[in-house]
Amino acid sequence: MSKKRVLSGVQPTGNLHLGNYLGAIRNWVTSQSEYENYFCVVDLHAITVPHDPTKLAKDTYTIAALYLACGIDLQDSTIFVQSHVSAHAELTWLLNCITPLNWLERMIQFKEKAVKQGENVSVGLLDYPVLMAADILLYDTDLVPVGEDQKQHIELTRDIVIRINDQFGQKQKPVLKQPKPLIREEGARVMSLTDGTKKMSKSDPAEMSRIEILDSPEAIARKIKRCKTDPQKGLEFDNPERPECHNLLSLYLLLSGKTKEEVTAECQDLGWGQFKPLLTEATIEALKPIQERYQEIMGDRDYLETILREGREKAELSANEVLARVKSALGYSTPL
Ligand code: AMP
Ligand code: TRP
Repeated sequence: MSKKRVLSGVQPTGNLHLGNYLGAIRNWVTSQSEYENYFCVVDLHAITVPHDPTKLAKDTYTIAALYLACGIDLQDSTIFVQSHVSAHAELTWLLNCITPLNWLERMIQFKEKAVKQGENVSVGLLDYPVLMAADILLYDTDLVPVGEDQKQHIELTRDIVIRINDQFGQKQKPVLKQPKPLIREEGARVMSLTDGTKKMSKSDPAEMSRIEILDSPEAIARKIKRCKTDPQKGLEFDNPERPECHNLLSLYLLLSGKTKEEVTAECQDLGWGQFKPLLTEATIEALKPIQERYQEIMGDRDYLETILREGREKAELSANEVLARVKSALGYSTPL
């Protein structure tokens, strides 16, 4: 039996933080040998909010290098850049024309981001989930490993598939394959260091709110030292009145590799002053090998370019085939 297909992606907007790592990439790495994987750097999504053209290409390479540095293995996985495979933009147009506008207006992420853009909110931001659906559907994807915040977008993708198959498929021969989200409970929602009720985010203006994968040990120590805590004695998981406590213990659990029981036993009688150095040490140690590997990869531009070229070639095989299938189902003629 052939392996199930996995596809996921991260936007090249700012550096990756612990939420991206623990909520997404680390899970891709852990399960990659079970699946046939496609991991793209979604640079078309990156321009749905105002962007800096002098940084886009560099940030795209950075994310691709971080995928490799975090342990994505080319034996099991294909790494590529979304804009290098033109089928993504083309399928988006076709899907746009069968997606009702009100489905997009309901999206939580759109509503949240649109508020921040005011008058300048672009059509692209509204259309973001359709582009994401195209990313997923072009690879006949079975599973999409993401953090909790992306679940609604995958549900929308599933609704689009039902609609296309209903309108343009035959019973025995659906046009598109139905994907499912793959959301791990642990790490699915890493919260901000300055507010345990808000998720850690690239777009938070407060740099102290997130630890980035490429942060220096000094920066990590400084951010943890100043992060928000509470005045209560003893540390515990799962107390809704203590969101920061739950978040910091969860980070410690994930980064140290210890179990919940071990962390509970170790930390239940600690004060913040004793706990923070433990978390700092575990974070620095967990990120160190990734940072070292990242420097090596970035030092060899040819290597990275070769990987992305081969990735594009491999991705195009699937993407062009699915695109042709959709065009034919919608009634387009094939150019001679
Ligand atoms: P983005 O930063 O929006 O490009 O997200 C890339 C991936 O990281 C997606 O799978 C998100 O679900 C995941 N992610 C982003 N922020 C967090 C967070 N705070 N906690 C867990 N996962 C996250
Ligand atoms: N929207 C996703 C995010 O911000 C990124 C993304 C784009 C994605 N296309 C995708 C994730 C396809 C999974 C599959 O997190």
